[in-house]
Amino acid sequence: MIKVRNIASCLCAISFATSAVYAQTPAYLDDNQDIETRVADALSRLTLEEKVAMVHAQSKFSSAGAPRLGIPEVWCTDGPHGIRPEVLWDEWEQAGWTNDSCVAYPALTALAASWDPSLSLLYGQSIGEEARYRNKSVLLGPGVNICRTPLNGRSFEYMGEDPYLSGQMVVPYINGVQQQGVAVCLKHYALNNNEVNRHTTNVILSDRALYEIYLPAFKAGVVEGKAWSIMGSYNLYKDQHCCHNQYLLNDILKGEWAFDGVVVSDWGGVHDTDQAIHNGLDLEFGSWTNGLTNGTSNAYDNYFLAHPYLQMIKEGKVGTKELDEKVSRILRLIFRTAMNRNRPFGSMNSEAHQAAARKIGAESIVLLKNASSKKQNALLPIDFNKMKKILVVGENAIKMMTVGGGSSSLKVQHEVSPLDGLKAVIGNKASIKYVRGYVGDPTGEYNGVKSGQDLKDDRSAEELTSEAVNEAKKADMVIFIGGLNKSDHQDCEDADRESYNLSYGQDDLIEALAAANKNLVVVNISGNAIAMPWIDKVPTVVQDWYLGSEAGYSLADVLVGNVNPSGKLPYTNYASLNQCGAHALNTYPGTWREDHKVIDEEYKEDIFVGYRYTDKNNLKPLFPFGHGLSYTTFKYGKATAAKSWSNGKSLKVEIPVTNTGKVDGAEVVQLYIQDVKCSVARPIKELKAFKKIMLKAGETATVSFELSEESLKYYNADKKEWTLEPGTFNIMIGSSSSDIRATLSVDHE
Ligand code: BGC
Repeated sequence: MIKVRNIASCLCAISFATSAVYAQTPAYLDDNQDIETRVADALSRLTLEEKVAMVHAQSKFSSAGAPRLGIPEVWCTDGPHGIRPEVLWDEWEQAGWTNDSCVAYPALTALAASWDPSLSLLYGQSIGEEARYRNKSVLLGPGVNICRTPLNGRSFEYMGEDPYLSGQMVVPYINGVQQQGVAVCLKHYALNNNEVNRHTTNVILSDRALYEIYLPAFKAGVVEGKAWSIMGSYNLYKDQHCCHNQYLLNDILKGEWAFDGVVVSDWGGVHDTDQAIHNGLDLEFGSWTNGLTNGTSNAYDNYFLAHPYLQMIKEGKVGTKELDEKVSRILRLIFRTAMNRNRPFGSMNSEAHQAAARKIGAESIVLLKNASSKKQNALLPIDFNKMKKILVVGENAIKMMTVGGGSSSLKVQHEVSPLDGLKAVIGNKASIKYVRGYVGDPTGEYNGVKSGQDLKDDRSAEELTSEAVNEAKKADMVIFIGGLNKSDHQDCEDADRESYNLSYGQDDLIEALAAANKNLVVVNISGNAIAMPWIDKVPTVVQDWYLGSEAGYSLADVLVGNVNPSGKLPYTNYASLNQCGAHALNTYPGTWREDHKVIDEEYKEDIFVGYRYTDKNNLKPLFPFGHGLSYTTFKYGKATAAKSWSNGKSLKVEIPVTNTGKVDGAEVVQLYIQDVKCSVARPIKELKAFKKIMLKAGETATVSFELSEESLKYYNADKKEWTLEPGTFNIMIGSSSSDIRATLSVDHE
């Protein structure tokens, strides 16, 4: 933080500003003026020192405004699932406030699994209201990095593997937040697709993969969502750190997409003053910290964009054009947020917010398997006529999951565990007994926020298993609730998972439970796909997520059938890592250069990420992208397409869908395209449209899509443009990427 030390000039400025207020409201304070006039006016009144003070942090989560002019500080908060509790001015530790507990919303993977943009809007509005109530100008989220490997420690903060799904889901979130006069900060731009070596990885990939897979969700957030800020990522691209990257920030973001907001660095992501000045960064945060735990004390004057920058300007080594550009963007953000007198006041911990979290959670849960065959029974929804004695097993049934995971860790007013949720929702319809089964992570603390739980259990794995198996034999049904838990290497920032299999002996325990009781439901809580070596022995499997404050209620709502599951996987659940391009082609996590300073990670699978890779190589995943069952069934009728592309721009495609079961339910109807013949390799399927529809039992509705011409194009790297090659395209409509129910062929000239 550059302090203004020249008291005389300061006093002069104050008296000038004061008399100006009395004489006439300056343009920058006048709501009736348009934002650009206000920005230009404010900029003209700032001194050099004041401008430099605005382009870097003054505390862990704030940057200076211009106090002399009444321009407020910019206060940021993590993001992206709830409003982070206050930390000390210059420390990561808690500030000790007692009014900063929030509602934790489901993690963004869960939101993506709902495939429901209207829930994304509700999410954005709800979290935006909480950010506003806590007087934050910038919410550090949402994240839209692509799930390239299920080992990525932060997949749970992102929206899955598909660029179109992520783009469709991120825009309403942004709208919802920014309606509250709070800026989103879209992150982490770009190519931060694994956590291991995140500060030193240089990503190498084709322009096609960049434009077709890794950029579209960011572009949607910027161009359609009109995000007011974006965060550069830690890694490198083309040998430049992404927080000051000529290609990503100047050429693409500010050039091609005409972004008019603020580029914020990730905490500790800036490395060089010259690059920070010229390569697109606007606001520097967290230098000399790792963004998570340690840091140099009160180093703000030494930030790359603080004294070193001021000095360079004073010595004439650099002009002020770039500085004015950065400050203009920051002023624009301030006028859109803290200096927007019309913005709402927000609200915190309301019943409406809790209800939103519960609803989004329940709509996101994916019923992966619910066998109904001679050998295995469909166990869900729970039939209380038969299931009188229910045994719940597993640490995740009782563990608070809102604490942990890195910077998205929260302090909540309450958190309903799965066990408590089940007890409350099931009531006296059945008896519920709980046994631990395994010990995973008994701790529960992040940056001084304590879950208050002591989950220590000194019994051996044998003792815990034998207790669980004995109890399982006596129960009518067993619900195992396990998975990952947001501790190190278990879905957590700054580290990737070390194994695709579940840890803590859970696979063996599940096998033992399946042998003891054939009525076994496995509930996996995670933000990533997992290996399921026991899949054939378990009749019913549910993919649950980190669902936040109301987690247990959302899960119970689905298990008992109060909510009919309608979530669909936002990623491919590979049978093994060999089915994932990043691992099959041995490109993850890259190769260290000789100097051991940079690790090159080449995305050799190119555009073939997720289902694009399994489709291409004819691999059968355990559960495909877009998969999710319901307690009812849906029949798809005959698809039809309009005769021609209206104005050559869009094509109407329709398909009737009938709920053929006995209960009401929602289906996500997915539309994929295939370019039958093309001069470049294209995926067998690319998601280009989807709709979630609610159908009463027996009801039929016609689902209608407007397929845009854009969706047929590929990125032509030679021409640097999106190209449509005339010819035949297959349109595939189905219930998942592997369950196509209708195919049409259409031509485009
Ligand atoms: C994370 C960001 C986060 C920032 C501030 C960094 O470690 O990568 O996502 O917003 O810290 O907490």
